[in-house]
Amino acid sequence: MMISETMAAKLNEQVNAEFYSSYLYLGMACWFDGQNLKVFARRFFQQAEEEWEHGMKILKYLLEVGAAVQLKEIACPKQDWKSPEEIIETTYNHEIHVTNLINDLMRAAVEESDYATQSFLKWFVDEQVEEVSSMNELLALVRMAGPERIMLVEQRLAAMMG
Ligand SMILES: [Fe+2]
Ligand SMILES: [Fe+2]
Repeated sequence: MMISETMAAKLNEQVNAEFYSSYLYLGMACWFDGQNLKVFARRFFQQAEEEWEHGMKILKYLLEVGAAVQLKEIACPKQDWKSPEEIIETTYNHEIHVTNLINDLMRAAVEESDYATQSFLKWFVDEQVEEVSSMNELLALVRMAGPERIMLVEQRLAAMMG
């Protein structure tokens, strides 16, 4: 095995955190769909898929370095939302939380002089900058529009997503 037991355990935890993110965003996508906010729904279905891919990326790295994959239970996410603003705010905070997890992993890899894992994690460091930034932007738009003009944010989101 090319990485330490400790690092393998931490990366397995991150696989679970990414799969949980996927599950959380999947529930949000369904809530948006139920509110007929179909563009928000599409954005969150897409985000749920991306988070699943993040989990798979780490899982495949574990296999590649000869570490054991340990699948854990995925917690049930909150699904009763009050408003689009509550969802976007929760997502923004969740991405900050995930950024902290990635930073903790990177710190551990640095402390262990584990260069392979540092190099692997760099993609995730960059990805978190992008995700926190785009959720911050979306949160600002949702707050600016307010509940009555949420359709304007739908239109903007549609344009942003292409
Ligand atoms: Fe992720
Ligand atoms: Fe994310």
